[in-house]
Amino acid sequence: MMLKSLLSVGEVAQRSGVAVSALHFYERKGLIQSLRTGGNQRRYERSVLRRVAVIQAAQSVGLSLEDIGLAMAGLPRDSAPTAEDWERMSQAWRQALDARIDRLIRLRDGLESCIGCGCLSTQTCPLRNPGDRHGRSGGTGSEVLGGPD
Ligand code: FES
Repeated sequence: MMLKSLLSVGEVAQRSGVAVSALHFYERKGLIQSLRTGGNQRRYERSVLRRVAVIQAAQSVGLSLEDIGLAMAGLPRDSAPTAEDWERMSQAWRQALDARIDRLIRLRDGLESCIGCGCLSTQTCPLRNPGDRHGRSGGTGSEVLGGPD
């Protein structure tokens, strides 16, 4: 590989719009990789730009770098993610987002019954007893904030 065809970290930052410090962080997390020149400077293959674009897109929908790293772990390190790779990853992320949205909706709906209440009961408050894990049949509803869980 000709070093001249590789990109410096500054060039990657400029073309991707991602800060140099973030690129270093991605590299420490194993999401991207660089080669080193004889002077120990980082150089990146051009395919890194598409990897960074995938990372940015995934982060924009709230995925953690750990989730992104897991999804990208199966990709070849020396080539850009293909459209098929992106299709597969984005489908999986969509399912994860749907599950997160469902959970947030349940939390929001639980909060509705708390507004104006303030009981914070470990038996009847859906935020203190999500999914009714303590069961409501035998409880008095008097186990309030600070009480045993
Ligand atoms: S504070 Fe949640 S139901 Fe009363």
